[in-house]
Amino acid sequence: MPVSIVGALVKGKPNFLTVAWITIVSHEPQRIAIVLNRNHYTTPGITEMKTFSISIPSEEMIEITDYCCLVSGRKTNKSELFQVFYGELETAPMIQECPLNVECQLEKTIEIGSTDMFIGKIHGIYTEEKYMKEGTLDLQKVRPLILSGSNAQYLNIGKNIGSAWSIGKNMINTPSMKSA
Ligand SMILES: Cc1cc2nc3c(=O)[nH]c(=O)nc-3n(C[C@H](O)[C@H](O)[C@H](O)COP(=O)(O)O)c2cc1C
Repeated sequence: MPVSIVGALVKGKPNFLTVAWITIVSHEPQRIAIVLNRNHYTTPGITEMKTFSISIPSEEMIEITDYCCLVSGRKTNKSELFQVFYGELETAPMIQECPLNVECQLEKTIEIGSTDMFIGKIHGIYTEEKYMKEGTLDLQKVRPLILSGSNAQYLNIGKNIGSAWSIGKNMINTPSMKSA
C-alpha cells in the first residue's frame, strides 16, 4: 500500500495521521478515497470541515511519518510538526516538506462498519519542479514509502521495470492467447 499523511482541521487546528488505505476512484472529475477508523481524532474534523489533504512523504520522512501514527491528536499536538500551507479551499492543511500534496473537497462518505470511506474531489495537486521529469511526476525523485501490511514494514520503491498499458502487448495475438 502507498503511505500517505492525511491532514485536516480539527477544532480549528491542523492534525495529521498516517494513512495507507488510499485509492483513486474516478478520473472525470478526479476523485480519491481514504478509509479512516471512526475513532481517530481526525475523522470528525473531515466530516465537519468537508475538506482534507493527502500528502506523500519521501523516504527520509520515515520517522515523522510513523510518528503521525504512534500518537493521536487527541493527546498530542501534531499541528506544529510540519510547515503547513493551504490551497484555494483554505481548510485542508498541506505539508511543505512532502514532495506531493493533494487538496480534496469531501464529496461523499460511506460508512463501513467501524470505518468511514471519505471520497474527495481533487481540487489541487502541489509539487515542485525538482520532482518532475518530462512534464510528469517522477516517482524515482519523490521516493515514496510503501507499506507491507502483513509484516508491518516500510519499503522503498524499486526501479522502473516496464511500461503500463504496453508491456503486455507482447502477449496479444500469440497463439495461446487468442479469444475464444
Ligand atoms: C503505515 C500506517 C498506515 C496507517 N493507515 C491507516 C489507514 O489507512 N486508516 C486509518 O484509519 N488508520 C491508519 N493508520 C493508523 C493511524 O495513523 C493512527 O491510528 C493515528 O494515530 C490516528 O491519529 P489521530 O487520532 O490523530 O487522527 C496507519 C498507521 C500506520 C503506521
